[in-house]
Amino acid sequence: MIQIAIDGPGGAGKTTLSKGIAKKLGIVYVDTGAMYRTVGLYVRDHGYSYEDTSAVVSLLPEIHIEVRFEDGVQNIYLNGVNPGERIREPEISMYASGVSKIPEVRAFLLETQKDIARKNSVIMDGRDIGTVILPDADLKLFMTASPETRAKRRYLELIEKGQNVTFEQVMEEMVARDAQDAGREIAPAIPADDAIMYDNSGLTFEESLDALYAFIQEKLGDKLNNL
Ligand code: DC
Repeated sequence: MIQIAIDGPGGAGKTTLSKGIAKKLGIVYVDTGAMYRTVGLYVRDHGYSYEDTSAVVSLLPEIHIEVRFEDGVQNIYLNGVNPGERIREPEISMYASGVSKIPEVRAFLLETQKDIARKNSVIMDGRDIGTVILPDADLKLFMTASPETRAKRRYLELIEKGQNVTFEQVMEEMVARDAQDAGREIAPAIPADDAIMYDNSGLTFEESLDALYAFIQEKLGDKLNNL
């Protein structure tokens, strides 16, 4: 069994790179942000603000989140229904970040995340994976890229999905969300003491993936042969 922890701000390439690595290594890719997005979606759909902590906490007993791995892809079921791309709406990014500041929400998702890593070899992507969820991970990376690079990636991703946004909006929202995630009291999005910083600004996806794969092989060597 192997555990690779990937943390870092939005748009740093965590998701696409982690998925690529999971495929190459034949391990499970876990997107923990999708779980916070699912809680955020439920809160939005029920007409509450993510700032309304007591309302968010009172909704938790109604929320059942199940994570299934189907054809190597993580699918989340919210009370039995896969919300699909709805969790990717720009508005839901702020809801996810907002609800993730609430200790009860983090406690609610923690066991699900730890349990997946107990049962599978994983590359898990989030904000507190190296610090809280997998403190003994075999490898911890904190991925970054310049704010311009990250905002551009996010912008292109959203445009491709047909969302109606401007680059300026994406940049503004990203900076606000990063500040909120890194500045919160509980499990702030900061590197673990033993995390390796990995900046991929200026690299294409293929270049980053190749470099990262080589790096992981060098670091984990034999462990990868015994998966
Ligand atoms: O990775 P993402 O952009 O889908 O995450 C959405 C939000 O969820 C992010 O702004 C902060 C929160 N999050 C978190 O607090 N801890 C995690 N492990 C993953 C995400």
